[in-house]
Amino acid sequence: MDPNILILGAPGAGKGTQSRRITEKYDVEHVTTGDALRANKHMETEHGTPASYMNEGELVPDPVVNEIVKAALEDADGYVLDGYPRNLSQAEYLADITDLDAVLYLDVDKSVLVDRLTGRRVCDECGANYHVDFNQPEESGVCDECGGELVQREDDTEETVRERIRVYEENTQPVIDFYDDEGELVRIDGEQTPDEVWDDVQDAIESSV
Ligand code: AP5
Ligand code: MG
Ligand code: ZN
Repeated sequence: MDPNILILGAPGAGKGTQSRRITEKYDVEHVTTGDALRANKHMETEHGTPASYMNEGELVPDPVVNEIVKAALEDADGYVLDGYPRNLSQAEYLADITDLDAVLYLDVDKSVLVDRLTGRRVCDECGANYHVDFNQPEESGVCDECGGELVQREDDTEETVRERIRVYEENTQPVIDFYDDEGELVRIDGEQTPDEVWDDVQDAIESSV
């Protein structure tokens, strides 16, 4: 059976970058609440649209997000879960619906995050991540993998990035502590180069599953 992997980390820690490699090597689904919400950002729910929260850097209400995750995990034979859980109530919900084989935490100092996020560019077509300084495409503005156009995410402005980091510290740091206390968490130095982080990610997965 393919592994169930949880990847945790602050906004800009590299969850999306590493998850993409994990899906290719371990043949698992990339379940990411951020991408799922962006794909449905104008959907009307009884709590309002996802965009109304995301563009401010706030969390989308739990009922909306829990439903997305439940449906995605039911359909997946092995997954890497990225962007969820983001608070303790989501962590409890997750424990009720699935079993995890590996819990990885990409540890990156806050001082690095703002530059990573404001310089990020994302492929409009396939979602691949780049950075104007740290991870440049071969041709500026064009995706190496599919030739799609590289754009800036709406929530990657400096002001919204700072709010996302504040929300992370308030709501998601307790989730990191929760898995750490359970003894499940494998801490990875996320300030290394993407290739070095990837080496540690593979080691962590192979020693956990
Ligand atoms: P989401 O899309 O999950 O955003 P996030 O958690 O803020 O994380 P990011 O995607 O910004 O960062 P990442 O860790 O994936 O980093 P990346 O690999 O791109 O969520 C967005 C919003 O949706 C939330 O604010 C919220 O509103 C809502 N939402 C989502 N899930 C929710 C939930 N569960 N509950 C409620 N609301 C929810 O890397 C970043 C940059 O750094 C890139 O440019 C990359 O090229 C570069 N980089 C990556 N690794 C390295 C490295 N090792 N060295 C140098 N640069 C690197
Ligand atoms: Mg991401
Ligand atoms: Zn692309």
